[in-house]
Amino acid sequence: MVDGFKIKGKTPLNGTIKVSGAKNAALPIIIATLVARGEYTLKNVPNLRDIRILMKLLEDLGMKTEKVDETTYKIINNGFKRNEASYEIVKQMRASFLVMGPMIANLEESVVSLPGGCAIGSRPVDLHLKGFEALGAEITRVHGYIHAKSDKLKGAEIPLTFPSVGATQNLMMAAVKIPGKTVISNAAREPEIIDLGNFLIKMGAKINGLGTPNIEIEGVDDLHGVEYSIMPDRIEAGTYVIASLITEGDLKIENINLEDLGVFRSELEAMGVKFEYNGNVLTVNGNLKELKPSKIRTMPHPGFPTDMQPQMMLLQTLVNGVSSMEETVFENRFMHVPEFNRMGADISIRHGVAVINGGLPLTGAEVMSSDLRAGAALVLAGLAADGETTVNRVYHIDRGYDKLEEKLNAVGAKIERVKLDI
Ligand code: UD1
Repeated sequence: MVDGFKIKGKTPLNGTIKVSGAKNAALPIIIATLVARGEYTLKNVPNLRDIRILMKLLEDLGMKTEKVDETTYKIINNGFKRNEASYEIVKQMRASFLVMGPMIANLEESVVSLPGGCAIGSRPVDLHLKGFEALGAEITRVHGYIHAKSDKLKGAEIPLTFPSVGATQNLMMAAVKIPGKTVISNAAREPEIIDLGNFLIKMGAKINGLGTPNIEIEGVDDLHGVEYSIMPDRIEAGTYVIASLITEGDLKIENINLEDLGVFRSELEAMGVKFEYNGNVLTVNGNLKELKPSKIRTMPHPGFPTDMQPQMMLLQTLVNGVSSMEETVFENRFMHVPEFNRMGADISIRHGVAVINGGLPLTGAEVMSSDLRAGAALVLAGLAADGETTVNRVYHIDRGYDKLEEKLNAVGAKIERVKLDI
C-alpha cells in the first residue's frame, strides 16, 4: 500500500498560503556544511522527505544533526568519520551525489555511489566528474561507485558543456577549499546557485560572479560554521500561482521573492495574468476564460524552469486555444501528459513538443504521479476537474512539497490522504 490523494474538484481557493524554504537550495546548503568543520544553524528548512534522507547521510558520514524546531536544523561537523556514501542512500535521492565535492576537498580518498536514472531522464553525472578531474582528482568507476583520489588538487579552468545545476554546485563546494583559482564557465545561474554561493561566502569562501556564467573561486583554508536562512521556494510559489489561476481562486501567496519568478512571471503576464506584490505577499488575477494561449520552451535559468513545466502545461490545458510546451532540459519529462489526457485534456507530443488543444473541461479520474512536479500538477488538475480525482504514488510529492495537502486544504481544497494499492 502507498499513500495517495483523493481530491474533490472545483472548490474555490481563498486565503493566505505560505511558501516554505526552497528544497533545491536547502539540499546543497545542507551538504555544504560538510565542506568545513564547525557548528551550523540552518533556518527556513522545508519539512521534506528528501531533507530527512539527507540528514541520515550526514549522520552516516559522521556529522551530528539536530532538528531544533519545525524549520531549524543544527549541524555539527567535527570531521568525516567515513569516506563512503552508499548506494542505499544515494539511490533514494539523486542530490546526495553532491557530497562528492566536499568529500574530494576534505579527504584524500572517497567513494560515492553513482545515482541511477529517474522517471524524467537518464541524468548522467559526467560533467561533475570531468570537473573533478580538471581539479586534479583521479576518478575511477568500480561496481557502480565512483572512487576519487584527491591528494594533488589545485584550482583549474572548468568549462561546462551544459550549465548543469548539480555540476556547478558540486564543483563550487570542492573549489572553495582547493588551493588556487578555479573558474567555472558556462556555469548554472539559478537563484539556488546564488543561495548556495552566499552560504559559502558567509562561511569565508572567496567567490565572484554568482548569477553569471563565469564563477570565479579562490580556494581558502579557513572556512567556518555559520547561521543561514534558506531562500523561499520559487517552484512551490509558482505552483500556488497556478493553483490560484486554475481554480479561479483568490490566493495570497506569502514568503515569496518576486524576482525569482523571472520568466515564469513574464510568460503569465503575456497570457494576460496580472500580479500584485505587496511586502512579500503576491496575488494573481486572471480570468481563465480570457487568458491567451502561449508557446513555451524550458531552458536553464534565466529561461523558463523545467520544474514549472507540468504545472504550466495544466494552465495551458485550461486556457482556450492552441498552446505548446517544448522541454529541452530533460529528455523524458512528459509523463503527466497521458494522465492529463485521461482527465479529458487534448495534448499530443511531437518531436519533444507538446501541442495542447486547450479549453476542454477536465473530469476527475484515477491518475498516477510519476515524479515530483508531475505529481503536483496532477493534484492541481484534480482541483480544477469536475468530480473526484485519485492521485496515486504521492510519495513523489512528499519528497519535495512541504505539507502540500494541508496547505491547500487550509485555503479551501478538499484533499484526503488515503492508502492505495500501487
Ligand atoms: C536540478 C534540480 C531539479 C531541476 C534541474 C534543472 C536540485 C536538487 N534539482 O537538478 O529540480 O529540474 O536542476 O533545473 O536542485 N546533465 C548531464 N551531465 C551531467 C549533469 C547533468 O548530461 O553531468 C544533464 C541532465 O541529464 C539533464 C540536464 O543536464 O538533462 C540538467 O541537469 P542539471 O542541471 O544537472 O539538474 P540537476 O542538478 O540534476
